[in-house]
Amino acid sequence: MATKETLFRRRDTGVFDARMARCHDELEWLFMELYDDRDALNTLELAMAEAWAARSPELKKLDAAREADPGWYRRGNMFGMTMYTDLFAGDLKKLARKLPYLKEQKLTYLHLMPLLKMPHPHNDGGYAVEDFNQVDPALGTNADLAALTKKLRAAGISLCLDFVMNHTASSHEWARRAKAGDPCYQNFYHCFDDRTIPDQYERTVPQVFPNTAPGNFTWCEEMHKWVLTTFHPYQWDLNYRNPAVLVEMTRSMLNLANLGVEVLRIDAVPYIWKQLGTNCRNLPQVHTIVRIIRMVLETVCPAVILKGEVVMAPRELAAYFGTPDKPECHMLYSVSTMVNLWSALASRDVRLLKAQLDALNALGPQCWFVNYLRCHDDIGWGLDEDVERYLGIDPQLHKEFLYHFYEGRFEGSWAKGEVYNYDPATRDARSCGTTASLCGVEQALEQGSEAALQTALRRDLLMHGAMAFFKGFPMLNSGDEIGQLNGWGYKNDPDLAEDSRNLHRTRFNWDNAAKRSEPGTLQNELWQGLEALRELRSDPCFGPDAWFTTWDTHNNGVLGLVRRLDSGRTLAGVFNFTAEPQHLWLDALGGAYRDRRTGAAADVRDLWLQPYEMRMLVNE
Ligand code: GLC
Repeated sequence: MATKETLFRRRDTGVFDARMARCHDELEWLFMELYDDRDALNTLELAMAEAWAARSPELKKLDAAREADPGWYRRGNMFGMTMYTDLFAGDLKKLARKLPYLKEQKLTYLHLMPLLKMPHPHNDGGYAVEDFNQVDPALGTNADLAALTKKLRAAGISLCLDFVMNHTASSHEWARRAKAGDPCYQNFYHCFDDRTIPDQYERTVPQVFPNTAPGNFTWCEEMHKWVLTTFHPYQWDLNYRNPAVLVEMTRSMLNLANLGVEVLRIDAVPYIWKQLGTNCRNLPQVHTIVRIIRMVLETVCPAVILKGEVVMAPRELAAYFGTPDKPECHMLYSVSTMVNLWSALASRDVRLLKAQLDALNALGPQCWFVNYLRCHDDIGWGLDEDVERYLGIDPQLHKEFLYHFYEGRFEGSWAKGEVYNYDPATRDARSCGTTASLCGVEQALEQGSEAALQTALRRDLLMHGAMAFFKGFPMLNSGDEIGQLNGWGYKNDPDLAEDSRNLHRTRFNWDNAAKRSEPGTLQNELWQGLEALRELRSDPCFGPDAWFTTWDTHNNGVLGLVRRLDSGRTLAGVFNFTAEPQHLWLDALGGAYRDRRTGAAADVRDLWLQPYEMRMLVNE
């Protein structure tokens, strides 16, 4: 068997050694603090050395380039998209053939939904992983994945893949061995002989799917034990108190990195550490583990960065960036601004959104966000209740308004969508639907109203425009660029019917995509609108060092955002979230402004916006 020493003797390990030397003390200290297990630490270090030795020269070159340019993912031209391989193209090989379509949109970042081996048909959209080292045969092979990342890299597109850290499928080999009675593998999970401890956990741990998967434990008949299953019964939570779990998961993570994956989306990361008597979210040990992973990546494959899936309030988010000296994630989803955008659109009031943007901005310069409107998941109405109360908004009533509004059940609602995981005990619920359908496109088409359609498209582009202005970079949900509608047909498929997130997980409509170049079609209108946004983001004010802030517009229906460079160049964006013309002014901005698109002079102390209009103003 190879040891660290034999591996090192065979190759020039100078680069690896130097990187290891930079973090070794901290890595050792954190690992030993968590596990007090030197053998496990040695195994981890060996896995790192092996992964480095196996890394291709091409990827090592990329590592060096990224080390010299660590802010590469903060450039203004970053533009992302997320999609399911099968829904978009069928499989990985076919997806590679669709590259021209992605290049046409000047994408620089592609997030493919989970594609590792999974059980069929119940796999939570791929989030139940059966083998972290193998692509699902229905989608292709590891070689197909490596070939795709290579092609994408040549096109300037970084591939992001999920790393589902919190759990495995109940059909994963570790779970199968646990079921067969192997205590070593039972220790990879949280298994209990009776309800004593599970009942204690249930007292403090909230439920993720109260409706579709109630409770946090599942009885396993083969094992004759209860097993912790925070998400679905077929997703077994891993036990990170066992160092072998962290070591093995890290090994798989490095395998993906060596296949050319450049961004790892660490799924459900706040949940990975469990502690009786707590809510089992965001515990300090989670941060120790993320920090360890960051150091492992920086040592073995510094081209690879971490995106955290942290669906939490801003005060929790900050910790996932770590500190400037001891960073954790490179970027996080901006979940709360996404939710607040939808809330502002329905309520025609931007105050909560503005407060949320201010709270995120206050987190400091190291924070960087992936901004988005829709993804494969639902919209969970996690608004800041303190701010709501301060503004005189009843949090519970507002939440009920929102999920009924986006279900289309509220008087005057333009939206078509569905409620997700309604909990009768708390009257809590989330919402599902595509961007276009939630913005009114579906209803307008049903009504055959051209005027309603135009309004819906303006809403859709307003939402994209605001989102593209925020700190971080924008990520589209595949299909949004052509106004893909809800797919109600999922209700007729028994394998999909139970999960209303399938409403917006639909097959990509290539016929509609073909209309993107036909003037007069809604696809063309959206396509051009998004084109204009990409052009906007080429403005120097979207550079990584630009200063970003919200700005008072003296109008609760209008969001004001400002980006400024040290040179003084200032870009102001104003966004009307209402169906009426609005008057606004931006005081104390100083200087003369012009409309960035038309070049016409604009008086920032006296501006009008049409319904759902946005304008970009730049100083001269
Ligand atoms: C993440 C995913 C979601 C999945 C869950 C469990 O939140 O986005 O789709 O259900 O993790 O893995």
